[in-house]
Amino acid sequence: MGRSDASRNDDIEAAVGDALGQIAGASTLEDLRAVSAGLTGKKGRLARLKAALGGIADIEERKTLGMLVNEALATVTGAVAARENELVRTSLAARVAAERIDVTEIAVGAAGSERRGRLHLVTQATERLEDVFIGLGFRIAEGPEVESDFYNFEALNMPPSHPARSMWDTLFVETDPPGSVVLRTHTSPVQIRVMQEWPPPIYAVMPGRVFRRDTPDATHMPVFHQIEGLVIDRGITFADLAGTIEAFTKAFFGSDFTSRLRPSYFPFTEPSAEFDIRRPDGSWIELGGCGMVHPHVLQAGGLDPDEWSGFAFGFGIDRMAKERHGVADLREMYSNDIRFLGQFP
Ligand code: PHE
Repeated sequence: MGRSDASRNDDIEAAVGDALGQIAGASTLEDLRAVSAGLTGKKGRLARLKAALGGIADIEERKTLGMLVNEALATVTGAVAARENELVRTSLAARVAAERIDVTEIAVGAAGSERRGRLHLVTQATERLEDVFIGLGFRIAEGPEVESDFYNFEALNMPPSHPARSMWDTLFVETDPPGSVVLRTHTSPVQIRVMQEWPPPIYAVMPGRVFRRDTPDATHMPVFHQIEGLVIDRGITFADLAGTIEAFTKAFFGSDFTSRLRPSYFPFTEPSAEFDIRRPDGSWIELGGCGMVHPHVLQAGGLDPDEWSGFAFGFGIDRMAKERHGVADLREMYSNDIRFLGQFP
């Protein structure tokens, strides 16, 4: 290698050293892009060194230096890519840190007052009811809101044109044949589904939304909520039903409340009753229906009435929430008025 070789070599090394310094110094992706264009572009130092190779007479010398320049360019390109990776990673981390949301943070209103979301009254009531029944050894089940005529009526001992069907003002889904699909009018169809799916003994409560063709007023809504109860075991009697309702009353309302059953009629229970809760002041709240599961219903659920017996009950959740919070008009509960909803902690 001659003198000029050595100095060209030094030039290449110096250019690489300078390039690596600039690359390391780029602190943003934009910086890096500008630096990289200057270094690897046609007017860059290495490009100029490469262009100058044309003036070298000795072919071997030109080859060797050409390789060195190419290696230098590759080194610089590699360093740019590595730095780019690094910058992308740190800018992502910075963005994640900046956009992080503290989900435990409490939003503070302008006046310094706490503004926190809360569950709807009906959701609160449903969850409390579930808690009480879980405490009594029950499990939770759910069924579909769009239901077949079979589950909503027929399996509940109401064959087509049974007069008791008129106890429920039914909303039908347009189907062919008409009338075969309904919006469930009560949660009782879930009794059948549970009997078909769970091996007995069964201790279940089934909360959910139900639908009736009703004009909204202070005590009625076309969409409301019920909770159904079903117990199936060997040797279950009416005394078990009365005892369960009383235990539930005390657990949910308090030990100074009590319950009573009045004879009534439902096609799916026999005997049937309605149950009321007595407040400490002696007044009564009408709550819901109940009774011993009818043998036809046990059969529809796939159970042998000679082996299994049970009771069922069902009542409205919205009215209980209304009662508990002293709400005058049921329609308020669904007005979505934040001033109304915000009153209940
Ligand atoms: N499903 C009945 C209703 O909606 C209530 C009920 C449930 C009655 C279970 C008896 C047994 O009116």
